[in-house]
Amino acid sequence: MSDYLYQRTRQYFGQLSSGTEKCGEQELQELGATNIKPGYLGVYFCADQRTLYRIVYGSRIFTRFLAPLIAFDCHSSKYLHKTAQNINWADFLTLTKTFAITANVADSNIRNSQYAGQVLKDAIADQFREKCGERPSVDTHNPDLQLNLYIHENKARISVDLGGGSLHKRGYRAESVEAPMQETLAAAILRLSEWNGERPLYDPFCGSGTLLCEAHMKAARIPAAFLRKKFGFLRLPDFDAAVWNQVKTQANAEITVATPASLSRGEDAASTSLIAGSDINADAVKAVRANRKALPGGEEIKVRRADFHTLEGFKNTTIVTNPPYGIRLGNAEETALLLKEFGDFLKQRCTGSTAFIYYGEPTLVKKLGLKPEWKQPLRAGGLDGTLCKYALY
Ligand SMILES: C[S@@+](CC[C@H](N)C(=O)[O-])C[C@H]1O[C@@H](n2cnc3c(N)ncnc32)[C@H](O)[C@@H]1O
Repeated sequence: MSDYLYQRTRQYFGQLSSGTEKCGEQELQELGATNIKPGYLGVYFCADQRTLYRIVYGSRIFTRFLAPLIAFDCHSSKYLHKTAQNINWADFLTLTKTFAITANVADSNIRNSQYAGQVLKDAIADQFREKCGERPSVDTHNPDLQLNLYIHENKARISVDLGGGSLHKRGYRAESVEAPMQETLAAAILRLSEWNGERPLYDPFCGSGTLLCEAHMKAARIPAAFLRKKFGFLRLPDFDAAVWNQVKTQANAEITVATPASLSRGEDAASTSLIAGSDINADAVKAVRANRKALPGGEEIKVRRADFHTLEGFKNTTIVTNPPYGIRLGNAEETALLLKEFGDFLKQRCTGSTAFIYYGEPTLVKKLGLKPEWKQPLRAGGLDGTLCKYALY
């Protein structure tokens, strides 16, 4: 078996959204990583094999984890093709397995990311053809092996994507409505809210229920990758199935869902439940009901159709929400009025609660008419968003 860079150093890279770096570092520490260091839109860390499996299975904040195979100076596509041959690709692939490449190139002689990915693909195909006369196929949708090529200032790194694709795809989203939030962003918002499952959490603009589902996963200690069917680390040459099974069994044993008898009775009785939400749109409510079914104990998430204006209000509750933001939903004036009215609702009917509002557009912050205790820019899914905390006295 060859000796790849991650095997020599035990160092990996986790990618995350801008603004979530500190949350990501804390999470890695809790999951047992060491030597945690910031990088560009991500974090470097060290982990032994067992810890690495635990991290990929349990992380809620990171979108990808990468295991580097080689790193080298790379000034031309010819050299990229030649150096990629130093990897014995049969360590990762057979003729019946599929692969895909994501490539990111910046400030380098090779200028085009897509072209760089193509060169790496050809190098893999050429090595297989030379040895076996045939080559494995590319499958960009659901590959067995997802590779990552990163070239910055002519320094290249070829890595295996340990999750086998973006980790924000948890697997519970069967249905969504307009402008769903990325699951990893929702998880970062919940971590920043410091909600620990002890007091009720409510989302009055719940859409397809991403914040509600992530809150339930956190409270019930459901590993973030619980529903994931494929993991990239299964393709590593030193993959250890026994260790992976132990990690999974141990993490799954910690899932704590209430027994059906202890669940609140009645159709979506928000007042008696820990995690609840509402939305004006009937399709959104339908989407939450479909999505929660995928999660163990998901019926504990209560949801109903309601315009927030008609809600009674909330005492001693953590309100976490993502109101419409005008760009993709409705128009700017309507959004400004809605936020002003929501600000009045919070002031008048939610005393003793704390609100965490994620604005998809930073200029909307001042429309609420309340002074935030803090603001945190959080960019994800093409949104230049901001999270604000409001203590409601
Ligand atoms: C940005 S989306 C929320 C997306 C959600 N975080 C998700 O991940 O799917 C805003 C939601 O506010 C809802 N909405 C708009 N006006 C409302 C109102 N007056 N009362 C309650 N919900 C409203 C919309 O139907 C939409 O689903």
